[in-house]
Amino acid sequence: MEVDVPKTILLIVHITAAALWIGPPLGVLPNVTRSLAAGREALGVAIKDFNFRGLLSGIGGAGVLVTGVIMMFYSFGGFKTSPWPFHAALGLVVLAMINSAAFGKGMKTLRAAHESFNDTTVTAARNAVKKMKPFSHINNALWLGALVMMIIAKYINRA
Ligand code: HEM
Repeated sequence: MEVDVPKTILLIVHITAAALWIGPPLGVLPNVTRSLAAGREALGVAIKDFNFRGLLSGIGGAGVLVTGVIMMFYSFGGFKTSPWPFHAALGLVVLAMINSAAFGKGMKTLRAAHESFNDTTVTAARNAVKKMKPFSHINNALWLGALVMMIIAKYINRA
């Protein structure tokens, strides 16, 4: 059996990047909510954690996108000749990146609560977390959609 080395490397990076995109943000918002009850110092730690996990996820998402597009060319000869589920997955990742911009505003409110930790700012921070939740759910739906596209591509479309 011959091994296609470049494709194997691409796939390893692709799947690792997908894990990095999906995994780190899970549970970040409940963590922030708990930290608000625990005090200023805990909120500071939760904000740092949020930022770090966001960074990891961003790197992962970009990695999935780049390796995915490279494989659309390497395996199928370009966009036009690639099966539709890969186009759909590409669109879903781009949507997730756009959707993630919504966390910026909430993050500002969290930072403000950390700077001056009082009832007003903490309530604002709690509301900000509530507002961020739907966007987090949307991101989860989007990566799940991309995953389903990969399964369709492998087992249905090209079977
Ligand atoms: C949740 C995110 C994703 C996961 C978990 C994932 C996972 C995978 C896996 C496991 C494979 C190997 C399938 C096989 O053995 O044939 C694969 C292949 C591939 N993926 Fe993804 N993928 C994701 C997102 C994407 C995106 C967004 C794109 C497009 C930009 C993409 C494009 C491709 C391409 C072109 C292949 C190569 C197929 C081949 O050469 O046979 N993937 N992906």
